[in-house]
Amino acid sequence: MVIRNPVIDAVLSRQTIREYTPEQISSDQLETLMLAALRAPSGRNSQPIHARFCQNAGILKEMQVDFKNIVGWDTPVHTRSDTNPFYHNAPTFAFLFAGGDSRMEAGLMAENICIAAQGLGLGTVLVGSVSPLFSDEAAGPKWKRALHIPEDWQFMVGVGIGRPDESPEMKPRNEEQIQVIR
Ligand SMILES: Cc1cc2nc3c(=O)[nH]c(=O)nc-3n(C[C@H](O)[C@H](O)[C@H](O)COP(=O)(O)O)c2cc1C
Repeated sequence: MVIRNPVIDAVLSRQTIREYTPEQISSDQLETLMLAALRAPSGRNSQPIHARFCQNAGILKEMQVDFKNIVGWDTPVHTRSDTNPFYHNAPTFAFLFAGGDSRMEAGLMAENICIAAQGLGLGTVLVGSVSPLFSDEAAGPKWKRALHIPEDWQFMVGVGIGRPDESPEMKPRNEEQIQVIR
């Protein structure tokens, strides 16, 4: 029998949300998510990930214009510039950066944010596809500067956060990939 409690429920019910209502998340929700990000584990407590929770719709819109000019109208994953920007119109978008390639720690911080948000009744979407914006010669330094991130740091992943405006089906999983050896 699967044990249920609020933590397990948050883990099991989290799913990607790509439609959001326009209201901003509350300042208490933001503070809670920032603390959840901070508490993420890292190798030897190296804490390589720096997160920027952007709540400035103007910045996100301008980023989308640059992103479209770099990758074209059809972006790699689930977005189209004219209808669905990389941030999926989430009112809060967390950008995770690191000085080196710390994808493991970025993933752990991102998941902490997603599960905590789920526990707060919010939806999330992980976004890796916006990375060309930050590796672009012109746009990269500009947007890293705007986010107070050193120019030579790498974008790891983003997390869109907001109130869900859709209830998608749960995506299937390959159960045989998880096995017990006794
Ligand atoms: C590293 C990573 C990058 C992702 N990048 C994107 C993205 O750029 N755009 C997007 O819409 N979804 C993105 N996703 C969400 C996945 O498509 C989604 O997690 C997957 O289809 C499983 O669906 P679920 O989260 O609802 O279970 C990303 C997920 C991960 C883990």
